[in-house]
Amino acid sequence: MQIPSYVKNQKLIDWVKVIAELTKPDNVHWCDGTQEEYDKLCDEMVKAGTFIKLNPEKKPGSFLAFSDPSDVARVEDRTYINSRRKEDAGPTNNWVEPSEMKETLNKLFDGCMKGRTLYVIPFSMGPLGSPIAHIGVELTDSAYVVVNMKIMTRMGKQVYDVLGSDGTFVKALHSVGAPLQPGQKDVSWPCNRETKYICHFPEENTIISYGSGYGGNALLGKKCFALRIASTMGRDQGWLAEHMLILGVESPEGERTYVSAAFPSACGKTNFAMLIPPKSMKGWKVSTVGDDIAWLKADENGKLRAINPEAGYFGVAPGTNYDTNQNAMESLQKNSIFTNVALTPDGDVWWEGLTKEVPDGLTDWTGKPYDKNSGKPAAHPNARFTAPAGQCPSIDPKWEDPAGVPISAIIFGGRRATTVPLVYQAFNWNFGVYMAATMGSETTAAAFGQQGVVRRDPFAMLPFMGYHAGDYFNHWLNFGRKLPNPPRIFGVNWFRKDENGKFLWPGFGDNMRVLKWIVDRVHGRAYGVESPIGWIPKYEDLDMTDFDFDRERFNKLMSIDREMWKQEIASHEELFMKLYDRLPKEFTWMRELITSSLWRSPAHFGLAPER
Ligand code: GTP
Ligand code: SPV
Ligand code: MN
Repeated sequence: MQIPSYVKNQKLIDWVKVIAELTKPDNVHWCDGTQEEYDKLCDEMVKAGTFIKLNPEKKPGSFLAFSDPSDVARVEDRTYINSRRKEDAGPTNNWVEPSEMKETLNKLFDGCMKGRTLYVIPFSMGPLGSPIAHIGVELTDSAYVVVNMKIMTRMGKQVYDVLGSDGTFVKALHSVGAPLQPGQKDVSWPCNRETKYICHFPEENTIISYGSGYGGNALLGKKCFALRIASTMGRDQGWLAEHMLILGVESPEGERTYVSAAFPSACGKTNFAMLIPPKSMKGWKVSTVGDDIAWLKADENGKLRAINPEAGYFGVAPGTNYDTNQNAMESLQKNSIFTNVALTPDGDVWWEGLTKEVPDGLTDWTGKPYDKNSGKPAAHPNARFTAPAGQCPSIDPKWEDPAGVPISAIIFGGRRATTVPLVYQAFNWNFGVYMAATMGSETTAAAFGQQGVVRRDPFAMLPFMGYHAGDYFNHWLNFGRKLPNPPRIFGVNWFRKDENGKFLWPGFGDNMRVLKWIVDRVHGRAYGVESPIGWIPKYEDLDMTDFDFDRERFNKLMSIDREMWKQEIASHEELFMKLYDRLPKEFTWMRELITSSLWRSPAHFGLAPER
């Protein structure tokens, strides 16, 4: 094995040797992260049928991949936290004892890269050399992973300078689990249909992923490292790794306020991060720092600061268009990779919601001519685009600032057709933590399995917590105690529906009306009414200029119904019982407080006079 002269880290070299001996690839390729390397790999994938080169006049430098139909989303039931003790993974994670897991994995990895190339991908999560950043190295047999990692992280040779001869790094091993026999022809999307494992060894900062080539299962810098492993690092070192977007709000006076927000997968983080305010809200501007992951640390003055550890967007394509998200549309016009969207006859991409009319002659995400009358979508509901963050027109000037941006408010939001009002503000940090911990949301296509069922998704981190959820809540409570002026915490729900199943709130750009109230609350210049679950705005507290939205509809959207909340609190209790041994004791009292204030207020707490 030829090792490039600039690789000086003996631990890395030894690890690559061990893995190459085990997995038996035909070649080992040390990625340098150059454009030439990227172009060459893309060319090879076009020849192999993995990539379709898109029309350079429509989408320059861009490619489309169709995955295997069995490999389209994260696999939560195949995801493990392999801490030494089961209690440390907690009841919300799958767990297998580490040595037992490694025995299983060793068998699977033995010869699993035969006929393939082993790529060594050095990457930094966070700006290179920033004190908040961390380095990882992914070993993979997928060229698709290499090119996606080039967009999603700071990837390449320069990482070795930071790593030096004795720097530490997160080990991330990945295989699609599809070795080739001599002479065997490869398929366009190799993966293992029968066996998938996404494993995390938090005590060893190691990730091992087998059998899938898709998104969060395979791009190991993202969910596996920047959330699961990093949340455990954060617990031990006193910081937070969260499933959050980060945005900046500029007021007409030029005042800038940074906000982070946690919504579950496919619940609007990318949309919110790139929001364009309605024309009537003159002078208000939103800038984008990140759309999926935030690392949050207190600075020496106790101010909470956040960085986006990623360098690209791996965004949901369906529903994205020039009305719902113009900035995302402009980000993905070039140098992008599309996965599982439909192909137009002129070599462009299409997905449900891109245009009102379905174009003729589409090739659907399974690679077949699309039948408009089939009742099936042309793009998979979890189809995604991979686009460089720097191409986003709303990118914040400080998005790569190693010091991060100061966070003044944190928003939590689920997808709830009923029960939860449009917006409310937690009474204090502890209440906010309670609210986030008990958040519910309908499941989406981002994970394999049943869709549209409400489950508890604490902090939008249920699939991403690297340790016991009860410890996680305690860590948040402790963290807040150390902040002299902690960010204000808010809850939102863009997804409440009326009795006909129609969304009550238009959402998207109009979410700026809610965001403005939040920012104004932070700066102490907006009113809030006390409700059983927090402070809420009245109709006149939101900017309703040139907005066709009447008071009655607003009050409906904001109503808090005692019967519904009884059920809601019962489901909090269900989560608490599951986590009982490590649940913060405060939570029991807070639940009592909410329950009693529900009973003291009208059966239907509303802003309109009681009917
Ligand atoms: P991950 O990348 O999976 O973590 O998800 P995300 O939170 O970034 O998801 P994204 O922003 O791509 O959300 C996509 C889905 O949310 C689409 O179905 C959108 O139509 C929907 N969505 C986003 N914002 C709104 C909104 O304000 N109102 C409504 N009704 N739907 C919205
Ligand atoms: C999510 O599911 O929350 C994502 C997409 O952001 S993936 O990276 O595939 O996990
Ligand atoms: Mn996500």
